[in-house]
Amino acid sequence: MSEELNEIADPLYALSSISETINTLYEIDELLARILAIALKTVNAERGFILMSSEDDPSQLSVRVAHNIDSKAIPAMATFSRSVVDAAIAAGETLISYNPIDDSRFQTSMSIVDQKIVAAACLPLRIKTRRFGAIYIDSTETRGKFRPEIEPFLNAFAHQAAIAIENAQMYDRLRVENRRLRKAVADANDFSGIIGKSKALRQVQETVRSVLDTDATVLILGESGTGKELIARALHYNSQKAEKPFIALFCGSLPESLLESELFGHKQGAFTGALHDKKGLFEEAQGGTIFLDEIGDISPKIQALLLRVLQEREIRRIGESQIRKIDVRVVTATNKDLQEEVKAGRFREDLYYRLNVISIHMPPLRERGHDVILLAQHFLDRFAQKANRQFLGFSQEALDSMLAYDWPGNVRELENTIERAVLLAKRDYLQPDDLRLDHVDRANGTPMTLRDFERHFVEKILHQNDGNVTETAKVLDVSRRWLHYRLKEWQIEF
Ligand SMILES: Nc1ncnc2c1ncn2[C@@H]1O[C@H](COP(=O)(O)OP(=O)(O)OP(=O)(O)O)[C@@H](O)[C@H]1O
Ligand SMILES: [Mg+2]
Repeated sequence: MSEELNEIADPLYALSSISETINTLYEIDELLARILAIALKTVNAERGFILMSSEDDPSQLSVRVAHNIDSKAIPAMATFSRSVVDAAIAAGETLISYNPIDDSRFQTSMSIVDQKIVAAACLPLRIKTRRFGAIYIDSTETRGKFRPEIEPFLNAFAHQAAIAIENAQMYDRLRVENRRLRKAVADANDFSGIIGKSKALRQVQETVRSVLDTDATVLILGESGTGKELIARALHYNSQKAEKPFIALFCGSLPESLLESELFGHKQGAFTGALHDKKGLFEEAQGGTIFLDEIGDISPKIQALLLRVLQEREIRRIGESQIRKIDVRVVTATNKDLQEEVKAGRFREDLYYRLNVISIHMPPLRERGHDVILLAQHFLDRFAQKANRQFLGFSQEALDSMLAYDWPGNVRELENTIERAVLLAKRDYLQPDDLRLDHVDRANGTPMTLRDFERHFVEKILHQNDGNVTETAKVLDVSRRWLHYRLKEWQIEF
C-alpha cells in the first residue's frame, strides 16, 4: 500500500491529526490553506479550492485559497466543477462524483475530457443551518479515482474544518474588537484627559512624562479626590506597557488575609475556602502596572511581604513554595501623610523608601487657581452631553462662587457638583444656586463677616425651600418684601 493509502486506511487517525493541526491555527488564510492541503493529501486529489461567503452577503461566494488551479480562472471554470459546487451547496451536504463522465447529476461538458477529471468532490462548510463556504477537490488521470471509503471521512472532515474556520473567524473578530477597545482605553487615559494649566498641575505632568518609560516605583500623594488614580492610569497608558495590564487594587478596606491572597494568589487548600489555585494580582499584572491605592492603610504583615516583592522582584503564592519572577511596575497612592505614619511607627521606613523612589504630589484643587474653571467647563460639557442638554456656560456669579470655594473634596467634589447642577439647572447659564456650594463652613479659617453670614444663611434656607420666597420668608420670620429686597441686592436669582 502507498503512504496515502495507509493514511486513509485509518481515517480516525487522519481525522485526529487534522483536528489537532487546524485547531491550533487562528490565522484564517493560513488555516484555509492547511485545510485544503490536508483534504487533497488524504484523498490523493491534486487540485482544489475553498470558497467563502462574503461577510455582507452570505450568498456571494468567492475563492479564498486554491491549489494547482489559477484562482482567477475559477469563476469561469468548467461547467462541470461549477455544477458540482452549486449542487453541493444547494443540498448542504458532501457530494462526490466517482465517475464524472457518466454522472447524470452534474452538467458534464468537454472540459471533463479536456482536463482529464476522473473524480471530484465538494464539501459544503456549515455550522447548524448557517452555510458559509465550500471545499472543492478533484483528481485527474495521473492520480486516479476516489475510493468509496473516503465518503465518511470527507463528511467528518468538512465538519471539523467548519468548526475550525468558525473559531478562527470568531478569534479574528475578537482580536479586532480587542485592539479597538485597547485603543479606546488608551485614548481615554492619555494626557488630554488631564485638565489643568496651573503651574502645580504642569509640574505633575512633567514628572509623569519624565518617568513614563522607567520602571521606577511611583508614590502618588494627595488629598482625596485630587486625581491620584487618574495620574496612575496616565502613567501606565502612556508608557510602553500600555498594551499590558493595568491592575488597580484598593487596599484600604480589605482584611489582611484577603488582601494577601488577592496580591499574591494561593494554592488550592492553602486555607479554608481556597477551592482552586489562584493567581494573585501581581501575576495578573505581569509585564504591566499594579496600582495599590490607599497604601497607607496596609498592615505590618502586608508591608513586610510587599517589601520582599520590591526587593526580590518575585512572589510566592500562599501555601506554595514555588517562586515566581514578576516584572511589574508598582505605583501606589495614599491620602495619608506617609512620613508621619513612619514617624508614628505605623509604616515601615524601609518600605517607605522603596515606594517613594519617585513621588508625585497632587495639589489640592484650591491651589490650582483658574483650573477650577477649566475643569468645571470640561465636566459641564461631559454631563450636559450625557443628559442630552445644552448650556451656554456659567454665570459670572457662578464662576466667582466656584473660585471662592475651597473644595475640600477636590476634583471629585467639583465633578459631582457639576453633575448635579446639570440636572437641576433651569437656565442656559448655570447659576450659583445650581451649584449649591456651601460657603458657610470655610475650612481655611478666614472669618466671615456678619453680612456674608446673613447672605449665605438666607441662600441656604432658600435652597431648602426650592427657591420659594414665601416659604423662605416664613422660615426666616421676615417679611417677603425684606427678602425680595435682599435677594435683589445680593443678586441672588430666585
Ligand atoms: N486634572 C483632572 N482632569 C480631569 N479630571 C480629573 C482631574 N483630576 C481628577 N479628575 C477626575 O476626578 C475624579 C477623582 O479623581 P481620582 O479618582 O483620580 O482621585 P483620587 O485622588 O484617586 O481620589 P481618592 O483619594 O478619593 O481615591 C475622577 O473622576 C477623575 O477622572
Ligand atoms: Mg483614588
